[in-house]
This record gives sequence, C-alpha cells and structure tokens, in this order.
Amino acid sequence: MTEQNPEIRAEDLRRIIEHHNYRYYVLDSPEISDGEYDQLMRELAALEEAHPELITNDSPTQRVGASPQTSFPPMVHRIPLLSIDNAMDTEEVTAFHGRVARWLDKEDIAYCCEPKFDGLAVELVYERGFFSRGGTRGDGMTGEDVTGNLRTIKSIPLRLRGDNIPEVIEVRGEVVLFKAAFKELNLERAEKNEPLFANPRNAAAGSLRQLDSKITASRPLVFIAYGVSDAAAVGLDSQCAVLERLRDFGFRVNPDKRLCKGMREVIDFVLQMQARREEIPYEIDGVVIKVDRVADQDVLGVKARSPRWVVAYKFPPTQATTILNKIDVQVGRTGVVTPVAILEPVRVAGVTVSRATLHNADEVKRKDVREGDTVIVQRAGDVIPEIVAPVQSKRPQDSQPFIMPDNCPACRSPLVREGALWRCVNISCPAIIKEEVYHFASKEAVCIDGLGRKIVNQLVDRGLIRDVSDLYILTREDLLGLDGFAELSAANLVSSIESSKRVSLDRFLYALGIQHVGSVAAKELSSHFGSLARIMGAGEDELLELKGIGKEIAQSIRDFFSNEQNQMVVAKLHTHGMQVSSPVKEEKRLSALSGKKFCFTGTLSSMSRPEAKKLVEELGGQVVNSVSKQLDFLVAGHEPGSKMDKARAMQLAILDEAAFLKLLEEA
Ligand code: IVH
Repeated sequence: MTEQNPEIRAEDLRRIIEHHNYRYYVLDSPEISDGEYDQLMRELAALEEAHPELITNDSPTQRVGASPQTSFPPMVHRIPLLSIDNAMDTEEVTAFHGRVARWLDKEDIAYCCEPKFDGLAVELVYERGFFSRGGTRGDGMTGEDVTGNLRTIKSIPLRLRGDNIPEVIEVRGEVVLFKAAFKELNLERAEKNEPLFANPRNAAAGSLRQLDSKITASRPLVFIAYGVSDAAAVGLDSQCAVLERLRDFGFRVNPDKRLCKGMREVIDFVLQMQARREEIPYEIDGVVIKVDRVADQDVLGVKARSPRWVVAYKFPPTQATTILNKIDVQVGRTGVVTPVAILEPVRVAGVTVSRATLHNADEVKRKDVREGDTVIVQRAGDVIPEIVAPVQSKRPQDSQPFIMPDNCPACRSPLVREGALWRCVNISCPAIIKEEVYHFASKEAVCIDGLGRKIVNQLVDRGLIRDVSDLYILTREDLLGLDGFAELSAANLVSSIESSKRVSLDRFLYALGIQHVGSVAAKELSSHFGSLARIMGAGEDELLELKGIGKEIAQSIRDFFSNEQNQMVVAKLHTHGMQVSSPVKEEKRLSALSGKKFCFTGTLSSMSRPEAKKLVEELGGQVVNSVSKQLDFLVAGHEPGSKMDKARAMQLAILDEAAFLKLLEEA
C-alpha cells in the first residue's frame, strides 16, 4: 500500500472524527465504539505531532488546546442579544397575542413555541463555515470571549455541515448541563469537599467561565441552538426554518418545538411542557413563544430591550433562598431519626415551605448545612422540599457544624446506626407510636376524619393509646379530658372512629404500616389473596409471585406478621369490632365508574376530598392527582385551581359538583 499523503489523511481524519462527534453528541446515536473513536483520535494526534504544520483550527485535537488564561477578552456582539418579555400566566400570553394581532392587523398568526432552556446564553460566530469565536451574552452588547472553552463542547460543530453555507453566520443558543450530569458532578464535588453547585444553570455557567479550558472540557456541557442573529440575511423566512437549517448545519436543536396556529394551540403546548417539565432531561424554566414569520417579526420590530415578536411564558421558580432557623431531629414511623430543616417560611413553586428534609446525618455533613445559614430550598413537582446548599458567603461568623444526637429525642434510648440511617429501636418509643397512629388514621388508610397530629400527641402522651387498637376503646369522656375538645367535637371524633371500623382489606393492610408496603403493594396483596388470614399465612415464595413484590417487601411482610406483638395488635383490632372487607369481585365492580380516572380541583360542598376519593374508589374508579390526557373527569368544586385551565386546554370532561353527585348516584 502506498503511503497516503499526510495532508489528505489529516483532513480525512478531521472529517471522520467530527462526523462521529456529531453522531454521538448531537444525534445521541454513535456509529462506532469508544475504542474505535480513540484509535482515530490517536492517529490524528500522531500525524499532527509528526507534521505540526498540518494542525488546523477546526481539528478535533484542538478542542482542548488552549492554554489557561488570566481573564477573558470582551466579545462585542455585532447585533445585540436582546432579552425577552415575560408572561407570568396564560392571560398574559393571550394579551401578548392581542398586541401582536393588533400591530399586524391580522388574527391568523403562527407561533414557533420552544422550551426555554435554563442555562447560559452564548453566541457562536462561523466564518466561511468554520467556528471562529464565541462568547457569553453578557449585558447583551458585550459578553466574554470564551472561544477556547466553547471549542471543548463536542456538540458545537467546528465546521458546519452541508452546503449553502453563508459567509458569516452568528448562531445563538444555550449551553446547558443535563440534570443527570449535574447530579453526578455535585456528587464528585461533595466527595472532594468542594462547594456544591445550586443548580444545573450555575454549574453550566461556572464550567464555561473557567480560565483553564481543561476543566471546561471535563464537564459534559451541551450546546442547544435556538436562533441566528439575522435570519433574513441568511435567506430564512421563518423561525421554524431557522431551526431546521441549524439542524442541517450540525447543531443540536430542540426536538420539542411546535408550530402553533392560534392561542389555543399555544396555551395547550405551554401547559403540556409545564406538565412534562420534570421528565425532560435538562432544566427548562418556561416556553418561548415566537412569531414564526420573519417578515412579521420585522414589522413588529423591537422596543427598548426586547423584541415585540416574542414572549417567554415563565414556569413558577422551583428554588428560593431563606434562613434555616433550626435543625430538628424527627422520629419516623419506622424509628428512623432524620434531621429536618425548620425554615423561615418562603414561597417556592406556588407553595409556602417552612420545613425541608435533610435526609440523614451524612447528607447534612456533606452539604455542610448549619443552623442560621441562608439556604437554597428546592421543590420540584410533588416531591418533598429539600435543601440544596447553604449560601457560604452569608454564613454567620459563629456558626457551628451540625452534630447528630446519640439518643432518641423522644425516649432517650441510644440510637442504632444502619448504613446511612440512625434508628430508634425502642418499640414503645412514644414518637414512633404517634407516627403509627397518625399513619393508621390517615386518609389513605382507615381514614379517621378529624384525628390530627395534636390530638394523637395528647392521646399518646397521656397513655390513652399504646398501640393503634386502643383507638377503638376511646370514649367520649376520654376525649373531653383533652385540650380543645367540647361535647360536639368529642362526639364527632367518636363517630368518625366508629365509621372507620368498616374498611377494605387493602386500606387496612396499608394502615398497619408494614415497612415498604405502600398503597400500591397493599392493593396488589388484597386483590391476590382476598383475605387477611391468607396474607398472614402466605410464605415468602407465594408473596414473591406477585407483581411489584420483591424480596425486600416479601421479607418485611413476613417479619411483620411473625412478630407476636403485631399479631396481638391485629387480634385486638378484630375484638374491638374492626370489620375488614374482602375485595369485591370483578363482575360486581363493573359499574359506570369502573376503570375511570378522576381528578379533583377546588372544594366540594357536600363532602371532603378523602370522602369523595373513597366513594369513587368503592365504585371502581381511580383518583389521580394531576391532569393528563388519560384523565376521564375533572371534578371542579368551588374556586378551582390551575388544573381547570389545563383540563380546558386539553378539552377534557369537566364535572361540576352537581354532575359529579349525579354520576355517583347513577353508578
Ligand atoms: S430566543 C430575542 N429561545 O432566554 C429573542 N431564548 O432571551 C432571543 N433562552 O438568556 C432569544 N431558551 O438564552 C430564545 N428557546 C429559546 C431560549 C431562549 C432560553 C434564553 C436566552 C436568554 C433568555 C432571554
């Protein structure tokens, strides 16, 4: 074989390697193994070492070539990067459309809607198809030239693909860190005792502004393109066309864009993205709604700092900062003792948060959270609020690290360490009994309306209750002896307790508080075995046959029922009149509600939510917490919330209270 001309081979290798970068980092669909890729990189590096004159700017070996800098030179944007006006709710989006329609004097307007990435805005300049420089947004006019760092991001093409490449093009987009990569990065930092990043956005910004591009290169940053500085100049007439062209040039563009005709489709898209927010692998903080036609954009023009043709619908923020007043230790139902942050109340994602979990002692140490700290609190979706990190710069001088107590805060018995957890193993610990009783009475369990924490605490503290079965021997007189009870309230609670005696098997099982047996597993056990006696008698192998029951759950069920004290509590519950009903046979359950999904919003006047839920379930229906396409009915009571807007946008069936009651009656 004749030796190939090194110059031609180097060019071939550059193209081949960049093609594989594109497959891997832009399309997420590699064609070769990592080993083969490394082989190509080695060949190119060797060639360049032998012939340094062959090194080009767009060589993949130069992605990490820049030597550390002391500061970043300014980068002046030829055309400023403007900001976007915000819309805080769907009404403001509609108002935006109203202004656009009036200005353009037409109703029929198409909008290109895209997720609003929560990262760092950058501009990349390509000259004759080659990446020449790039910088951050800065104040919109001038940012920082971070070309060397941007080169390390493999989803940024060093050379544009395809043909029809303009002389100069300025591509705009966002540098982001995917959620999974962010978590991993923070774990690594915790191990090295380095301060944690509060969120993927800060991590992306911190990574891109490193003076040593080797550090940037080690962070898996991703560039997502969303626009160009001047679409008309590169012969494009719509935002959708811009995104398609950027994709053809080899950029990663967002797959979730949608061309929406009219407000209805826009709002539908906005609410859909909001609902999907958690499952999207990178952070988004809203939806950007852009008039699609470039000619229309030009007519609308710009105001002081933002164009008239675009608006950002902002999702409620999921993080806020507040003061951590105290770290409490709390004993859970299973005896696990967890540190809990008591916070200065703060609103996060539409809810006031005054407590947040700190998970366990190791976690507190890892995050170095202390009493008196200003902390970042996060609440994502329906999960329990958590502390992300302390704001180190605001730490009081005299602050002390948290120390986990050696003894149970409730019964003083020594805590036992189990992996990362500390547990109180005293079976008569009053804190554990309180949690058991509270859980037993909860609305998903036997549902004792009106039995709140304060009452449970008093009942246990006064020795009126030593285990859950004691609930059923409580008298009106017992209750009248407690704080805050009068004749009527005592009689009401006695009657709630009385009516909780008739309960379905799955709820009863759940109420017992067997470790790892949540309502799903309880339903599964109930419908498979059909009676408590059969479940109590089931061996581990039999239990393992059920779907969703693994070794850990099966073991825990066996442990629970082989414990004499638990057997006694179950027996006492029966003697005190508890009637556990077996699941109704399938054919009987085929009512109008069978298999139908319900969701509630607002308050009902004729019954409480838990009661409504119980009724729907008894009739074979299912109650869910969020609105989705799978929902059959949204039941709207007084003052319905945002679920109503969402259900309307999705054109789902909405029942008012009267219609709901009628449906129940018919069923
Ligand atoms: S378009 C004038 N599209 O939002 C309109 N911006 O501009 C130009 N952002 O920090 C911006 N996702 O980086 C546009 N899909 C998207 C976006 C987006 C995020 C950021 C942008 C800037 C901020 C306001």
